[in-house]
Amino acid sequence: MNQTRHIAARAPLIVDPATLAEDPHASFAELRKNHALIQLGEGQYMALRAENVLPLLTDPRTTQIKGKDYVRLRGIPDGATARLLRDFFLFANGDEHRSRRTLFARRLPHGTMRDMQTEIRSVADAIVADLPRGTSFDFVARMAARVPAAMIAGILGLPRADAPYFASRVYELAPAVAPIYPIEDHQRIEEAAVQLFDYVGDHLADRLVSPRDDMLSSLVASWQASQEISFDSLVHQVLGIIIGGTDTTRAAFAMLVALLLERPDDWAAIQADPALIPGAVSEAMRFDPSVGSIPRFTEAELEIGDIILPTGVAVLASTMSAMRDPALYEDPDRFDIRRDQPRLHPVFGNGPHRCIGEMLARLEMQEGLAALIAAAPGIELETAPRMTGFGSIRQITPMQVCIPEFQ
Ligand code: HEM
Repeated sequence: MNQTRHIAARAPLIVDPATLAEDPHASFAELRKNHALIQLGEGQYMALRAENVLPLLTDPRTTQIKGKDYVRLRGIPDGATARLLRDFFLFANGDEHRSRRTLFARRLPHGTMRDMQTEIRSVADAIVADLPRGTSFDFVARMAARVPAAMIAGILGLPRADAPYFASRVYELAPAVAPIYPIEDHQRIEEAAVQLFDYVGDHLADRLVSPRDDMLSSLVASWQASQEISFDSLVHQVLGIIIGGTDTTRAAFAMLVALLLERPDDWAAIQADPALIPGAVSEAMRFDPSVGSIPRFTEAELEIGDIILPTGVAVLASTMSAMRDPALYEDPDRFDIRRDQPRLHPVFGNGPHRCIGEMLARLEMQEGLAALIAAAPGIELETAPRMTGFGSIRQITPMQVCIPEFQ
């Protein structure tokens, strides 16, 4: 037996996901010191150190976890949720992934998103104008949720008035991609998946017969011309974009505003110099991210720290842990809006699956924040939100704020 395999006889530490969820930043900091890898359940591992997490995403010995394995490993019962996860291009590889991603990548390029900056700002301005004055309200529901939902509706060509309908169902469905499937909530998740599937399917079918000047019409026309995937699969891909673009940015935006309001010097600094806003957005997504880990599947044996992972298991790359690793960021537990950030922010992943909506998400948060400091600079934080969960899409708790009467 060679040296590596001898060392590999060490088994990874098994960590109870419920314990990890109690205070993930503190647990990761403690675990990272002695463990590059932990085990969360049967065939499910998590890499914690920056030196392993980032290379894992592009390591040729890993692939994106396939939808069918994702569903099987998490024990998701058959139905609309399972069909969506088996089919969405996030969980596909190679040509199958490329051809589906291209459908959207060429419709969401950075340049087009930049051209939408003014529209995003006017949507955000209208939402800020509509916020209550002189009384407490939940910032997550009244603002952070509304900007991304309104924008994704606008981009696809869905009625903006429908945003609350589909967004509330997206929030029900999003926990389906948590590291441990919440089987106790399956009925709620499944109902949301069925309703969203019907909602998107109806809109796409409508564009088939009465095309308009919107992205849904152009998607359905490309689909009709190529017929490479089934109509149901087209619905799944659009649904995936709606899920990806709604929940992640809602939580990230609320956390950004909360982190700044908790630090009056930073809040004053961005008011005095709005050029600090993009750095504040990046720093908030590093400090308490709305996506905590990225799943991969081992196609060959893989060494992580002093443990060799077998072929055919799921390994979650904990970007959340890596972004607090002192090996990657100096003084990582300090929130610093002037910090030098890497060109590729780890929160958006890396490799062929790197987030397709990064520019949109950044602009929504930047313009949302700019709208808020312009029209409601005196907003006060009454109850800070908490980001819950430690992997995949994390959830945010309500955030009570109050804007003075005459702002
Ligand atoms: C703060 C906001 C966001 C964060 C933190 C985030 C994070 C991520 C990450 C980490 C991935 C890579 C997953 C992997 O490699 O397995 C990803 C992929 C993806 N994101 Fe985002 N995302 C955000 C916003 C958005 C928005 C606004 C959209 C909608 C346009 C979107 C749509 C997608 C899609 C469709 C994919 C799959 C890409 C592929 O598999 O090729 N995301 N996102």
